[in-house]
Amino acid sequence: MKQVALYLSIVFVSVSCSTKKETDAVLKIINPLSIESLKMEIPENNPQSESKIRLGARLFFEPALSRDSSISCGSCHLKEYAFSDTVALSDGVGNKKAARNSPTIVNVGYQPHFMSEGGVKTLELQVIAPLENEDEMALGVIEACRRLNQIPYYQDFFQRVWGDSATPFTLTRSLASFERSIVGGKSPFDDFIDGDSAAISKNAINGMSLFYSDRLACNTCHSGPLLTNFKIENNGLAAEYGDNGLFRLTLDPEDKGKFKVPSLRNISKTFPYMHDGRFKTLDEVIDHYARGGESHPNQHQAINGFELTDREKNDLIDFLESLTDNRFQ
Ligand code: HEC
Ligand code: HEC
Repeated sequence: MKQVALYLSIVFVSVSCSTKKETDAVLKIINPLSIESLKMEIPENNPQSESKIRLGARLFFEPALSRDSSISCGSCHLKEYAFSDTVALSDGVGNKKAARNSPTIVNVGYQPHFMSEGGVKTLELQVIAPLENEDEMALGVIEACRRLNQIPYYQDFFQRVWGDSATPFTLTRSLASFERSIVGGKSPFDDFIDGDSAAISKNAINGMSLFYSDRLACNTCHSGPLLTNFKIENNGLAAEYGDNGLFRLTLDPEDKGKFKVPSLRNISKTFPYMHDGRFKTLDEVIDHYARGGESHPNQHQAINGFELTDREKNDLIDFLESLTDNRFQ
């Protein structure tokens, strides 16, 4: 009996030692870990201010910015889901649907480029896209400003913040300021890397080791504090893509099927997954990577398949779920 107890305690000690070793090895790879180590680029002509962020927030939830006043930015970017949507393709005005899955905009201010092919270089410019898009708000920035300037509440608000009316300049900058204020870097994972070793479960720690292992190599692309290197890559979703991503901009066949590597922060809330929302669960996402993709000619070499036990798969999911900042509820 004594022997068994001794044996068990040796097993336990060695398990916790190896967990610590694995953790240390992982922490070395993902350093610097904290989101605070990132610097957000704020354009010189659009410094953050509290009143401007408030105006931007108000505009973000303003349905008058769509042609039939039925939808706002917030209809497709839902706060409860880390500012993403729960359907593969969101509803736009009329019976239209957006062409792609609505991404999270938490931490969007840290991104060097926007949209799935990274074709839009500033958040200010990005605002124009949904306003003009016939499948989304279908109003246009000029008409949006004309509408806002007829509403006394906004006349006042814009005057107070900008000393000016709603113009393409003040409208896009107010919304961009609000978006830069949506930062999410407080998850159990962050507490863990800040030194609270009990913040995530043993299973999640094991999942973290798997995520950063050479076998799975997720961090070839999902690296750094936001778990993305922001590159535009082909992760092998299909042998032939309907939406060819970056190719649509460059017309270079080598860019077919390339999409921006998304951040995995708040991933438990941003389902369904991928540019077209083809996967409903993280389970399906992991199956895709385990299969080694669908062998598109441009598929990145790091997508080459692996085997996971059910237990390991669940651990990996536990790790991904630990990246959730529960303030977005
Ligand atoms: C009908 C749904 C819909 C509406 C309304 C909408 N969006 Fe989006 N948003 C999307 C989709 C879909 C994408 C992805 C587009 C792409 O990758 O080509 C997106 C992308 C974005 C991005 C880029 C995110 C990234 O990671 O690159 C930002 C920022 C954004 N939207 C902000 C806004 C703002 C601000 C408004 C209001 C002016 C708005 N959206 C209105 C669906 C919507
Ligand atoms: C070669 C780079 C690369 C590697 C390696 C990689 N990914 Fe991805 N990942 C991407 C790209 C690109 C997308 C977006 C594809 C799209 O939008 O269609 C993506 C999307 C995802 C998504 C969905 C995100 C969302 O918001 O829709 C998850 C979850 C994910 N990857 C997890 C993983 C895991 C887990 C691994 C390791 C097993 C991994 N990835 C390995 C490039 C990569």
